[in-house]
Amino acid sequence: MTPQTITLTQPDDWHVHLRDGVWLPLTVLHSARYFGRALIMPNLDPPLTTLPKVAAYMKRILAHKPKGAHFQPLMTLYLTEGMKPDLIKEARMRGGIYGVKLYPAFATTHSTKGVANIKAVYSVLETMQEVGLPLLVHGELSDSTVDVFDREACFIERVFIPLLKDFPELKVVFEHISTKVAVDFVKSERERLRATLTAHHLLYTRSDCLAHEFNPHLYCAPILKRASDRRALIEAATSGNPKFFLGTDSAPHARRQKESGCTKPGIYTAHIALELYAEVFEAAGKLERLEAFASFHGADFYGLPRNRQKIILSQQSWKVPLQYRIGNETLVPLRGGTSVRWKCRILFQ
Ligand code: DOR
Ligand code: ZN
Repeated sequence: MTPQTITLTQPDDWHVHLRDGVWLPLTVLHSARYFGRALIMPNLDPPLTTLPKVAAYMKRILAHKPKGAHFQPLMTLYLTEGMKPDLIKEARMRGGIYGVKLYPAFATTHSTKGVANIKAVYSVLETMQEVGLPLLVHGELSDSTVDVFDREACFIERVFIPLLKDFPELKVVFEHISTKVAVDFVKSERERLRATLTAHHLLYTRSDCLAHEFNPHLYCAPILKRASDRRALIEAATSGNPKFFLGTDSAPHARRQKESGCTKPGIYTAHIALELYAEVFEAAGKLERLEAFASFHGADFYGLPRNRQKIILSQQSWKVPLQYRIGNETLVPLRGGTSVRWKCRILFQ
């Protein structure tokens, strides 16, 4: 039987988009409530390609940290073909940068400055390998001849396999994996390759987004896949394998944007992230493995101490707000207006 409450070591979110400006009060509040640390994605517009830009963004984030919260934003750099290897050395020397994000050009939101030719960043990857800075990969081929549902599998074949061969010691995180092919690929590689899993890829399939009516609020990149892929992702997340850990990829967009004729990919889940993962682990009958997935595997990989605070998840149904106000815009959160069956609270020590 499922226990009424479970106590966990405070978790970390190893992949989140907080955006900037008017977004920060809400996005920081939601992430900082339960997560001890969050790896902050650098795809602002313009992207975070220099250390002063990253430092200034971190300051803006910290200005919204709720009083008393144990929350540390872990910053990342956006990889471009113009990046110099010396920047990596400087980042390592100064500290405070936890990864470099590879967006294939045009693969997703704010990726136009991303990488079109992977060979153009080889000298940067060489230095990252040397200094032990992880590469965070949006693993989709953005080539227009590749079917959108095959982008992840094609990226593995054409970019990932050669890249891992060329950089045998580079630490790599395959972000938000969405297919069984990706699960098998991560399992087959040595310990230096890990993967993050989102709550939405664990809970939904492409039918939820596309069948009957198109639901723009379930449109994300990588796009949701089939039920067999979802089953493989759940199996990986709940298996206890340290290669897999929590990364929400919570990515807010204004309602107006999502419901326009040119919807951008992104699902906002930060307001109920842990509750959603708890649903997945509960349904799989593996709640006892949630803590390692959410609180241990990522920290161990990034070489950081596990958090000391605890959180409590209780079976307590509550209603998610229909929408949040953001400046002059509104944000539609996942499950807005409906009930979720877990409730999270933090135990301050
Ligand atoms: O769904 C997504 N939204 N996937 C990404 O890779 C980017 C993100 C965003 O920034 O909106
Ligand atoms: Zn993302």
